[in-house]
Amino acid sequence: QHQTIVKSMEQDKMNLKKFCDIITGAKNIYITGSGTSYHSALLAKQIFSKSKIHVETIMSSEFQYSSDMLDENSVLLAISQSGETADVIQSVKSARTMGAKVISIVNIPTSSLARLSDSYLEVNCGPEIGVAATKSFTSQIALLYYVADIIGRKSNGISSSKDILAKAVIQVLELDSQIERIADQLKHSKDVYILGRSLHFPICLEGALKIKELSYIHAEGMAAGELKHGPLALIDTNSIVIVLHPNDSTYGDTLSNIHTIKSRGAKIVGISNKKEALYDYQITIPTINESLYPLIEVIPLQLLAYHLSICNNGNPDYPRNLAKSVTVK
Ligand code: M6R
Repeated sequence: QHQTIVKSMEQDKMNLKKFCDIITGAKNIYITGSGTSYHSALLAKQIFSKSKIHVETIMSSEFQYSSDMLDENSVLLAISQSGETADVIQSVKSARTMGAKVISIVNIPTSSLARLSDSYLEVNCGPEIGVAATKSFTSQIALLYYVADIIGRKSNGISSSKDILAKAVIQVLELDSQIERIADQLKHSKDVYILGRSLHFPICLEGALKIKELSYIHAEGMAAGELKHGPLALIDTNSIVIVLHPNDSTYGDTLSNIHTIKSRGAKIVGISNKKEALYDYQITIPTINESLYPLIEVIPLQLLAYHLSICNNGNPDYPRNLAKSVTVK
């Protein structure tokens, strides 16, 4: 992924300009996707908002129920690794009938989605064989950061951080054997919660999806601030709580959530660049530009899901009941 993230930002200039011009020319911007690609859309909303661009996200399977506001002044950005997901294709077709422009981010340029789009960008990450989306996710989000950096009024720092980012990804991948040991300790868990705020929240959802999909352990991603609004009732001495907790503007508030969870006897796995005695297990990530943490913090969660699958005799490439591309509704 240290290579694919950088590659996703190597775009043909004219094509990139056309794509960006459609976004800047639109009055209303919507982003859609399914599964992991929807998590990219959720993160994109936050990245774009930090660059002072307002967007709405709509899950593709819900699009038909909540798309009434699209019109000829709208653009729908569809994100899909395969470019063949039935819900996504149906969303773009219905956006078209409402007069909206359609642009997309795909991994397969010959896909139906690319063909249905006024403009598309390729993530260039190479074929993704396993059912779980991994490198396509980090490539999608790197490209979304890049687009936001180009059109936004405020830089998110990705364009000047490519080398630092690649190095940081390599450092995170080197944590593999430590994460394997943590997986071995957690393999019998019944419930895993993943908590984080702001930019980390979509990564909590994505990490939980990877754990469910590959290890069959129940996992839930949550906005840490929601804890006291209900989920705290679930936390007890059997709970495993993974916290996305780099030393950024969310650090203090999330630390107070950790105190609350710890006092209920749950085990805490902290993913952070700062040492914290409250964690039972710490996965130390490197310090990078604070807006870019999602790109590196998702990798320990992907590795954890992979190792939990192996520990539980699963097949992380082909999890049960799932297909790589969901072409029927
Ligand atoms: O090909 P797509 O990006 O449109 O696929 C969307 C989802 O089906 C996909 O991301 C799915 O959630 C993955 N198996 C998650 O790992």
